[in-house]
Amino acid sequence: MTEAANLNSQQAPVITIDGPSGSGKGTIAKLLADSLGYELLDSGALYRLTALAALNGEVDLSDETRLAEIAGSLDIRFAVANGEVAAVLQGVDVSRDIRMERVSMAASRVAAVPAVREALLQRQRDFRQAPGLVADGRDMGTTVFPDAPVKVFLTASAEERARRRYDQLQGRGVSVSLRDLLEDIRARDERDMNRAASPLAPAEDAVVLDSTDIGIDDVLQKVLDLVHERIR
Ligand code: DC
Repeated sequence: MTEAANLNSQQAPVITIDGPSGSGKGTIAKLLADSLGYELLDSGALYRLTALAALNGEVDLSDETRLAEIAGSLDIRFAVANGEVAAVLQGVDVSRDIRMERVSMAASRVAAVPAVREALLQRQRDFRQAPGLVADGRDMGTTVFPDAPVKVFLTASAEERARRRYDQLQGRGVSVSLRDLLEDIRARDERDMNRAASPLAPAEDAVVLDSTDIGIDDVLQKVLDLVHERIR
């Protein structure tokens, strides 16, 4: 990369959207990136891809050294097709596989390993490109892009997040119990918020938005107002 392009990418503004699963941050991040013409980083997908590669290679999930090696050498690419972002692992579209329950569980374990987080750090920072980046995750504003001019922490009550997931799964014809979903969400929150490495928490300078009682359009408008105030 030339020095000018490098400088440019480091100066490109970043909007970080952090929060627990089901808060709507993935949807908001995508809408924002589309509306601003920015790049999009779904950092959770990197943890999911690491987990999938480990499961495919039958790697013991307690072997932290091996997990970090996998994270550091992942052959991945994000490809845009029909407005959707596909996750490609070793040339194969694994977008559906990385959303499977067993991969979600493994991703949550893999994400708690400090050496894995370290191995993925630069990879995430490499997504910063002109004209700007929307980064969605848990520690985008605290660890990966601490200098981001706009940081949002999007949350919603556990009950509301469980209900959204329930509706989503019902829509796909998957039958689940709302109570089980709520328990899963609480267990994941607990693990994400209490791990030692980069726990889920708002950055000190993040704007906290609660989407329990407001729709996606209103959340998007609030974030766009912040962007216009602070970036352009
Ligand atoms: O956002 P998601 O559900 O796709 O994330 C998958 C897992 O990775 C989840 O357990 C949280 C973790 N994660 C993380 O620790 N840090 C991030 N920046 C993004 C996701």
